[in-house]
Amino acid sequence: MFNNKTAIVTGAAKGIGYGIALALAKGGANIVMGDFDQATNEASAVEIEKLTGSKCVAVQCDVSLKGDIDLLIKSAIDNFGALDILVNNAGIFPFKPFMELTEGDWDKVLDVNLKSVFLCSQAAAKVMKDGAKIVSISSIASFVGFEGLTHYCASKGGINGMTRALALELAPKKINVNAVAPGSISTPGSSGVTDEQVKQFNEMIPWKRMGLPEDIANAVVYLASPGADYVTGQIIVVDGGWTLR
Ligand SMILES: NC(=O)c1ccc[n+]([C@@H]2O[C@H](COP(=O)([O-])OP(=O)(O)OC[C@H]3O[C@@H](n4cnc5c(N)ncnc54)[C@H](O)[C@@H]3O)[C@@H](O)[C@H]2O)c1
Repeated sequence: MFNNKTAIVTGAAKGIGYGIALALAKGGANIVMGDFDQATNEASAVEIEKLTGSKCVAVQCDVSLKGDIDLLIKSAIDNFGALDILVNNAGIFPFKPFMELTEGDWDKVLDVNLKSVFLCSQAAAKVMKDGAKIVSISSIASFVGFEGLTHYCASKGGINGMTRALALELAPKKINVNAVAPGSISTPGSSGVTDEQVKQFNEMIPWKRMGLPEDIANAVVYLASPGADYVTGQIIVVDGGWTLR
């Protein structure tokens, strides 16, 4: 499905990003994996190449820094000659009560989760051609409140708003811009969740289980595929039904 296509996935070293990179590589895409944690990123790139036979390049970057992002995009062009798919996945979710949040805490989460989507999408759109796809990873925290995550909820709400506005601006260039809003997904980033919390989550989820990175990757694969050519500005919720009630 993605033969001769090149995809950048941010935060691809582990968790949901790794699952997305693996799924796109299984579909035949060349992958540029951008992550802060270069040791894990390189190991993951080697693993995905072995599992899929697709080419994977690991690039160290901090998604909140414009200079790093410009190099990430350049790496796609230098290695593969084009950029067809951008997946804005890197994100952090440090729990902290609102009354204890510092300006630094706020800026860090907004920079990594939201400013990064601006930086990556703008740099990508400059080199993308007709039919290219931008998919950002939002969260159900953009629709419902979570205590201790006011900064995170704000950042993900920002992604939803930006997705709709950017979809309009990039429509003339025939670049689709969409987002996926995961529910509770089992990843290294969510490993701080206790067994008791997992039990509570499972009771709230109609599907009675936490999601897996593959559940999110499947939605991203659809949005990155030609099958989604007429879909733009949408936020697809993938949460086992959590937000239905
Ligand atoms: N896990 C969940 O339950 C869940 C739910 C909803 C949304 N999400 C979103 O999905 C995305 C991935 O989450 P995850 O659970 O896989 O996280 P994770 O912590 O397991 O993995 C995140 C990856 O991003 C990288 N990263 C972090 N900061 C970075 C930076 N500044 N620059 C580059 N790379 C950076 C990390 O090194 C790591 O490899 C995030 O945007 C998160 O908000 C996750």
